[in-house]
Amino acid sequence: MAAKANGKEKVVLAYSGGLDTSVMVKWLQLEKGLDVVAICGNVGQESQDLGWVEQKAYDMGAMYSQAIDMRSEYAEKILTKAIAANGMYEDTYPLLSALSRPLIVKHLVDIAHKTGASYIAHGCTGKGNDQVRFETCIHALDPSIKILAPVREWDLHTREEEMEWAAAHDVPVPTTAAKPYSIDDNLWGRAIECGVLEDPWNEPPEDIWTMTASPEEAPDEPEEIVVGFEAGKPVSLNGKPMALLPLIVQMNKVCGKHGIGRIDMIEDRVVGIKSHECYECPASLTLIKMHHSLETMCLDGDTLKYKHMVDQQWSTTVYDGLWFSQLKQALDAFVQNTQKFVTGEVKAKLYKGSATVTGVKSAYSLYEYSLATYGEGDTFDRTASKGFIDIHSLPVKTWSGKQGPSAKGVSEKSDTQAQRLSA
Ligand code: ARG
Repeated sequence: MAAKANGKEKVVLAYSGGLDTSVMVKWLQLEKGLDVVAICGNVGQESQDLGWVEQKAYDMGAMYSQAIDMRSEYAEKILTKAIAANGMYEDTYPLLSALSRPLIVKHLVDIAHKTGASYIAHGCTGKGNDQVRFETCIHALDPSIKILAPVREWDLHTREEEMEWAAAHDVPVPTTAAKPYSIDDNLWGRAIECGVLEDPWNEPPEDIWTMTASPEEAPDEPEEIVVGFEAGKPVSLNGKPMALLPLIVQMNKVCGKHGIGRIDMIEDRVVGIKSHECYECPASLTLIKMHHSLETMCLDGDTLKYKHMVDQQWSTTVYDGLWFSQLKQALDAFVQNTQKFVTGEVKAKLYKGSATVTGVKSAYSLYEYSLATYGEGDTFDRTASKGFIDIHSLPVKTWSGKQGPSAKGVSEKSDTQAQRLSA
């Protein structure tokens, strides 16, 4: 990674190979007088001709270009945490875009340090969450790095204007028609926005989905899968030990085939906008569901309920771009502590769009047959229940005795009626 000795400052660009960031490779050189280091993060996106992406940046005059395979690191360092925290923003979205950004930023900052770059540039728009995530993560990792967000700054407001600028400046113009949607994808799923989806009354057209079969078209036979977990982390599929990366790849295939993982939601962005989002998340939704089932067996009720709140806060914190933050670290510590005994196996049936958990087992199960059974072998002391209930109900008994009527479920309206009658 030898730096050019021309005295120019350097910028590390988060490069995807698409139109925006390709124009950026040239624009940063011409308009900002910077040497460009183009870095493409491979986090398992569908279009994977990354060798071509690398070469394209060189062809446009980048001083250095690299597609970095971040997939294993993404699975091991980021997705393990997301599974442990049942990471779902607004209880619905498995955070796929929010999870990939901190990892990409970590690499961009490393490269900036190695190349002595003083800038990092990204291709995010000025209305979305990803600009917030990129920049917040950069500020957390190295506040001295300066940030460039050309899309917020340049005069190229439409795709046509960008195409014209590209043609005039020897930037290869995409020959394929403009995609009608904005898409972001990686191992953890695929996000689809814009186009006809901007009207939330429109049912998502079938052509937006690429990872999932339509549930109507999915196989007529259900399929059973078994995932093994160790301390909250998926470690095997159908009895075969597997690293998390291939396990997720495999789960995306099998769950996708059964039409599992489609999400259609209205979501609250960090910048205050509500947006209509569609996601397909075959592996992520299923793994989180199975993991949570195992937790219901291995965590005691209080921890489980408290953890649900922590999980929600974890998800919002990560969504908001605060992966590298004090709060996120503290939440991780709590979550990690709860995972020690989340070890066991979960069985699920995949069928026409749904993954139904059909069995859970664990050596650390807190489910005690002898306590639960209504049949032979019951060890629960029923005679103790009366004393328990006497004390448990003491506060309501006291309250009801003093403030009587409202305790009897009488509505306010009939209270006033009662007052009128007695007057
Ligand atoms: N709304 C999601 C998020 O903020 C997905 C954003 C994905 N970006 C895209 N270009 N579709 O996490």
